[in-house]
Amino acid sequence: SRTYLITGAASGIGEATVALLRSQGHTVIGADLKDSDIAADLSTAEGRAELVARARELTGSRLDAVISCAGIAHFDPLTIKVNHFGAVATLDGLRPLLAAGTAPRALVIGSVDSVHPTDPAIVDAALADDEEAAVEASRAAVDRGEGHLVYSSSKAAISRWIRRCAVTEDWAGAGIPLNAVGPGVIITPMTQPLLDDPDMLRLVEQSVPMPLHGHARPEQIAPLIAWLTSPENTHVTGQVVFVDGGADAVLRGDRT
Ligand code: NAI
Repeated sequence: SRTYLITGAASGIGEATVALLRSQGHTVIGADLKDSDIAADLSTAEGRAELVARARELTGSRLDAVISCAGIAHFDPLTIKVNHFGAVATLDGLRPLLAAGTAPRALVIGSVDSVHPTDPAIVDAALADDEEAAVEASRAAVDRGEGHLVYSSSKAAISRWIRRCAVTEDWAGAGIPLNAVGPGVIITPMTQPLLDDPDMLRLVEQSVPMPLHGHARPEQIAPLIAWLTSPENTHVTGQVVFVDGGADAVLRGDRT
């Protein structure tokens, strides 16, 4: 049995992944704002430090897999702080614990939204690891009425971050696959209010068309997350695997 740490564990995709891994006999440490083994706000430096400190205490500084699910979709600078910088702090902060684990694996939840238009100012600042500039650029996007770009940019940034890092000494060199899963629309507390509103539902269906099986439940994506973070995954790394009912194929067509 393996030891996993999952952020965003109290709800939606994280919660379903915790349940699947526990049903398979693994030890799972959950982290979230509340209602979890570790309470930590990953939008703050204190919360990020708390995550790593508590994870060390609870595991004897040894983890076999880290899965970063914590995320928000607000049209607000907070979204870049949680979705990109919180995820980077989780993955980088816990990497030493993974290095001490067995068949270590890491994964973050991206989004098919990363193929939508993004704001280069936000993405570039995030990839330059400049949180202040990324927040400033996000605020500017919100101010000019393009708050939705903060979310797509946060997911594009974290997807590009994993592609860059996956092949470095720290990750590939240490034998740690690092991937993202890019969901289409998953029915969770994050999306339920949109799906319940007929006008918003129409917009969602336009921007994320899912010809195969429509919107998914978290239980339908958890098995892929579990596989990518299992010892069986020896060679998939640096990938953003879309689980989107065909949305990426519709949106990007031949641009592979
Ligand atoms: P959710 O809202 O059900 O769960 C997200 C969890 O993250 C919540 O428990 C929340 O408390 C936690 N969280 C939020 N801010 C946090 C912070 N500052 N510190 C610590 N924890 C925090 O949402 P869902 O749908 O399960 O989303 C999980 C991930 O999947 C997110 O990264 C989201 O962007 C991504 N995603 C979701 C899609 C969907 O259609 N539901 C589609 C594409 C990506």
